[in-house]
Formats: sequence, C-alpha cells, structure tokens
Amino acid sequence: MSMGAIPAGIAATTTPVIEGWSRPLSVVRPNRIEFGPGKAALVGEWAEAQGISRTLVVSDAFNARRVDLLALPGSVTVFAEVKPEPDLPNLEKLLAVARSADAQLVVGFGGGSAMDIAKLAAVMVKETRPFHDLVGVGKALEREVLLAQVPTTAGTGSEAGTRALVTDPESLSKLAVESVHMLADLAVIDSDLTKSVPPAVTAATGIDALAHCVEAYTSRRAHPIIDMYAREGISLVGKYLARAVRDGEDVEARAGLALASLYGGFCLGPVNTTAGHAVSYPLGTRHGIAHGLANAVIFPHTLAFNAPMVREKTADIAGRLGLDLRDLLASAHEFCAGLGVEMKLSNLGVPQADLARMADDAHAIRRLLDHNPRDISARQILDIYEAAF
Ligand SMILES: NC(=O)c1ccc[n+]([C@@H]2O[C@H](COP(=O)([O-])OP(=O)(O)OC[C@H]3O[C@@H](n4cnc5c(N)ncnc54)[C@H](O)[C@@H]3O)[C@@H](O)[C@H]2O)c1
Ligand SMILES: [Fe+2]
Repeated sequence: MSMGAIPAGIAATTTPVIEGWSRPLSVVRPNRIEFGPGKAALVGEWAEAQGISRTLVVSDAFNARRVDLLALPGSVTVFAEVKPEPDLPNLEKLLAVARSADAQLVVGFGGGSAMDIAKLAAVMVKETRPFHDLVGVGKALEREVLLAQVPTTAGTGSEAGTRALVTDPESLSKLAVESVHMLADLAVIDSDLTKSVPPAVTAATGIDALAHCVEAYTSRRAHPIIDMYAREGISLVGKYLARAVRDGEDVEARAGLALASLYGGFCLGPVNTTAGHAVSYPLGTRHGIAHGLANAVIFPHTLAFNAPMVREKTADIAGRLGLDLRDLLASAHEFCAGLGVEMKLSNLGVPQADLARMADDAHAIRRLLDHNPRDISARQILDIYEAAF
C-alpha cells in the first residue's frame, strides 16, 4: 500500500502532512562541537589530549596575530596568508607550507575562507592528483591528520560542513569540493572571537548565514530535519544582527549570531543553497565582491522572486525577520540597507556591460539552481542584476 492511501473503513485523520519527510536524508556533523564564549583555548587542551606535537594553523592576516588564544601544544606553523575568497594559487601556496610542516593536526582559524582551505590542506597534504580531480562529491582522499575548525566570523557555518569553495582564476568560477573526510573532528565556536568583526563585515556575513537558512528552507530539497535549524537560524538573525552591527561588543548578540551561523552550516550539507547563492557567485568570482556582501545584495531579489512558489514558508520567514509581506522586495531591501549594506551593484564596481555575462555564468550553476523552488532563466537573473544595479 502506498503511504498516501487510506484503507477503506478508516477515517482520514487530521494529522498534518510534513512535507518532504519521506525523502531520505544523510546528516553528518563534526565529531565534537564546543559552543560558547571564551572556549578558544579548548582547542589546545584537546590537541594535547590527542598527543599532538606539530600543528598547522590556517589563518588570515588578522587572526594569525592571535593564534596564542588557541593555546596549542608543541610546534605550531602558522599560514597567515589566506585571502578572502581564496583562489587556486592561494591554495597551492598553503599546500606547499602544509607539506613541509608535516603536521598531525590542521586548524582552520578564521572566516569561511580560512576554514575552507584548511579542509583542503587536511585532505590534500599527501595528494598527487591535480585539484580539479577532487572537484565534486566524495573524491578527496581519506585524511591522515586531525582537523579542528574555529570560526571567527558569524556567517558561513563552514565549521560544521564537508564542503570547500575555491575560485578558479581561469574560468572565474567557484569550484566546490565535498567530502566527508573534510568534516572536522572538533569545531570550537567561541563567539567572543567575532567581537572584532567590523560592522560592515558583521552585516554581510550575518546575511550570508540568513541566506543559508532561507535558501535551504525554501529549497525543493527542503527537509523537516533541516527546516528546524533553518527557522531558528532565521529568527536569531532577525533578533540579533542589527544589535551586533550597532554594538560589536554585545556578547549576547554575538553568541546568537554564532549559533545562527552554525545552524546555517547544518542547512548547507544535506540541503544546500539555491538561487540566492548562484546569482551571487559571479559578483565574487568576476568582480571580487566578498561572499557575504554579494549574498546581501541579491537576498531581497531571490526571496521575492521565489515567494509565489513557497508562500507559507515565505510568510514564516517574513514574520521572523519583521518584513512586510505586501512589499517583500522593498522590505527585505530595507532590512539589508538598514544594516549599512551597500545594495547597488553600480556602487560596488560592477560594470553594467558585464551583467549579461554574469547572468549566463550564474544560470550555469545547476548544482544550486536545479533545487530552486521556482525555475529561473538567464533573462530573469539578468533582470535581478539590472534591478540591483
Ligand atoms: N564551506 C561552506 O560551506 C561555505 C559556506 C559559505 C561561504 N563559504 C566561503 O567562505 C568564504 C567567505 O568567508 P567569510 O564570509 O567568513 O569571510 P572571510 O573568511 O573571507 O573573512 C572576511 C574578512 O574578515 C576578516 N576577519 C575574519 N575574522 C575576523 C575577526 N574576528 N575580526 C576582524 N576581522 C576578521 C578576514 O581577515 C577577512 O578580511 C568564501 O570563500 C565563501 O565561498 C563557504
Ligand atoms: Fe554562503
């Protein structure tokens, strides 16, 4: 008997249908997640207990200056040159350092940029194949080193996931490597580390976390196990993002956003993003706009574009963010602009003449767009760019 059939003689119940529940879902999480302000030194304690004497820390210039907060034992090699939106040359440079460091533990210490390429350093240190052979799902070698992740922005949720994104400077596209071997043994989410994030980066990265939750929640692949995190992540951003932008020292707001970011990370693995991210990517790959900022500029447009196909969930999102459903585009735009985000592509250095090319690039990102709740053509993506110009 099919699950939907009601046997003769048995009255239909009023139990609500939970959409998507029967779709199989695989959920993986880091072995251990430590959450809470002031927890950074736990990385060192844990490393010591594992008998680690050689560690490689993968970091950006800002965070590299405070690696001592991790209290790591033994010899510590610090790669301090992670670039925002890392590209293949940046990864190659890191791999050369990783090979000579011969570390037993790799720690990603920074935003999504540092954590993503830390994952790759951990699985590629003994790799002989070129990077392109690893692109896709399940191609990375089993890792022989331990991996810990310590986020310092509240945005990507990369600490919780199996994916890493690297820009290919030749094709100007983001290449995604996904493997269970890139999942951390330990994730330490110490929201105090985010107190130094400047207001503009706080706003942009916070909207990235929001976009992860919203896009997974409204995806064709949405699943109740993940919806739960998505809803809560959206509420946390609604409650705390403006507060953290206004006052970076607001520890409650910083902790709330760190949690929203983690929940966004939970959304990414099994469900992932849709049009918001696909339409954002060319802004970064072709014009160097930071990932969070690109997402913030596009967020109102894809939210409003998708709304007719996911009415109830969109109403729920609007309620959690305090948006006006009657004019969702304007209201979501005001939400982002009110956080100080520059919302005009023309003011972000994007030339109008490139919009059509960007739309074609975005439209080709089928791994995301195929799950968008509403089909979107290259022309409709171009309309979004023109509206945001
Ligand atoms: N793996 C995933 O699932 C996933 C998800 C979303 C995004 N990403 C990737 O993550 C990258 C973006 O990461 P991000 O948004 O966290 O930005 P980021 O890591 O590039 O950091 C942004 C800037 O903030 C600085 N910074 C970081 N922490 C700071 C702190 N505590 N105080 C002051 N400055 C600080 C960095 O030095 C950098 O200049 C992109 O490459 C994107 O593709 C990955
Ligand atoms: Fe993102």
